[in-house]
Amino acid sequence: MPIELNIDGTLCRAEEDELLATVLLRQPVPLFRNHPVDDSPRAAFCMMGVCFECLVEVDGVKNQQACLIRVKDGMRVNRGLK
Ligand code: FES
Repeated sequence: MPIELNIDGTLCRAEEDELLATVLLRQPVPLFRNHPVDDSPRAAFCMMGVCFECLVEVDGVKNQQACLIRVKDGMRVNRGLK
């Protein structure tokens, strides 16, 4: 069933219970965050909760692993990309 979520202020469609990381990888800019030390762009790597490259803010909670989260209607995601 199609749902809508908000990614950095833009409404995006996805399938309910799809992995958030797969939705983010389909975006025009498929990045997840910038590294806190050198600002290098980061994206999901392992897709199984090991590498922590997929951290994003979900519904106001920072540092959530997008590869372990299922999307829900109305979810708000902030990647904080620079
Ligand atoms: S992609 Fe590696 S922990 Fe999420």
